[in-house]
Amino acid sequence: MTPPYFSAMARRAHEPPISWLMRLKLERPDLISLAAGFTDDETLPVRHVRALVNRLLARATAGRAALQYGTTAGLPALRSLLLDRLRQQDEASYEKLTVDDVVITNGSQQLLYLITEVLCDPGDVVLVEDPTYFVYLSILQARGVRTATFASPADLSAKLDALQKRGWLPRLKLVYLVTYFRNPTGHTWSWPMKEEAWRILRRYERAAGHPIFVLEDAAYRDLRFDGEDVPSFLKLDPGNRRVLYTNTLTKPFATGLKVGYGILPAPVRRAVLRAKGNHDFGTANFLQAILARALEDGVYQNHLQRLAQTYRRKCHTLAAALGEQFPHEIPEGGLYIWTQTPNSEPTGFRSRLFQRALRAGVLYVPGELCYAEDPSRPVPRHFLRLSFGAPTLAQIREGVRRLQAALRSSEPSETGRRGQPVAVAPK
Ligand SMILES: Cc1ncc(COP(=O)(O)O)c(C=O)c1O
Repeated sequence: MTPPYFSAMARRAHEPPISWLMRLKLERPDLISLAAGFTDDETLPVRHVRALVNRLLARATAGRAALQYGTTAGLPALRSLLLDRLRQQDEASYEKLTVDDVVITNGSQQLLYLITEVLCDPGDVVLVEDPTYFVYLSILQARGVRTATFASPADLSAKLDALQKRGWLPRLKLVYLVTYFRNPTGHTWSWPMKEEAWRILRRYERAAGHPIFVLEDAAYRDLRFDGEDVPSFLKLDPGNRRVLYTNTLTKPFATGLKVGYGILPAPVRRAVLRAKGNHDFGTANFLQAILARALEDGVYQNHLQRLAQTYRRKCHTLAAALGEQFPHEIPEGGLYIWTQTPNSEPTGFRSRLFQRALRAGVLYVPGELCYAEDPSRPVPRHFLRLSFGAPTLAQIREGVRRLQAALRSSEPSETGRRGQPVAVAPK
């Protein structure tokens, strides 16, 4: 319990479940984690980063610049390279965008936090997909922001109407979307879906009385292993007024470098930079300099091709192991497969299945964590998010075998043998 003299925010903030899952894995190395969104260890670019660092430090002037403080917005060379890359990916000239519109942060997670901090007061509303990235839900919960959910663009109008009836529309600040290989479902927003959602949102702005921003979280965009890329929402917003685009270099290159970035409309960018100034007045210059060189030399882009092969293989291995027992779709990228139990058996931390899985030595993310609070629908309890990022192929197969064993032993005939929970999960 956080003592009552702590701030309201500290009292609202629970330990994010992801921290508990990550700690558990560290405490029990025997566990196979199909839970955390860690990336593949073998492909981490050790040799490339060594060469980049050596080159960076080979000349004293460049070395000193990289070892000095930078600016709050980030290294201009990196921001410029990221803007070029976006122009290529979206096949758009984005003439109105400049390096000034790009902000570098400590992972995209920091940017998600800063954006929410500068736009939302307690009691404001954020509309999220159902289900969504559960760590973002922790930010909203800690900051006292209310949530509403929608399942697809077809559902969006009805949801906005409902918000209008409840008088919540003037408090609706943004719509948060994970548009590429969504964490947790693996779904990607097609271009027609983006166009439809964009049209609908614009219709409700007058009633809201202020812009309704689209917070497009593209964290997995560079982790595509099949199919064609889709342009970002920025292409629908040539004046750069409504789209807050966030992306990261962590998952596609090295999570340990923890550098993310965003492209933000000027008023939001200025507010985010003021807040970031208070948080840390700039992301580590040295890390940015490494990544700028990786992009400049094509090391980053080449690395993505290697990753695509690795993750395609891992994804298909997981899908094959899950078979028909755990129904699922195969994503075209990202790190996750979303599945459900046969017979709708609950999967939550305190469920029989989770506790037995833990005993059997396998971890997963209970799907219920990915559903925001929304009294207009019950929270489905029988989904699981499985990650194929970190485990090896053998661990993926063994992890699913353990999950199947846990499922068998938690079936109703076993009810009488239900044991004590073996680990206390966060609330
Ligand atoms: C959807 C999504 N957005 C953002 C992040 C944050 O990643 P990072 O801070 O490493 O850029 C993650 C990490 O798992 C994620 O899954």
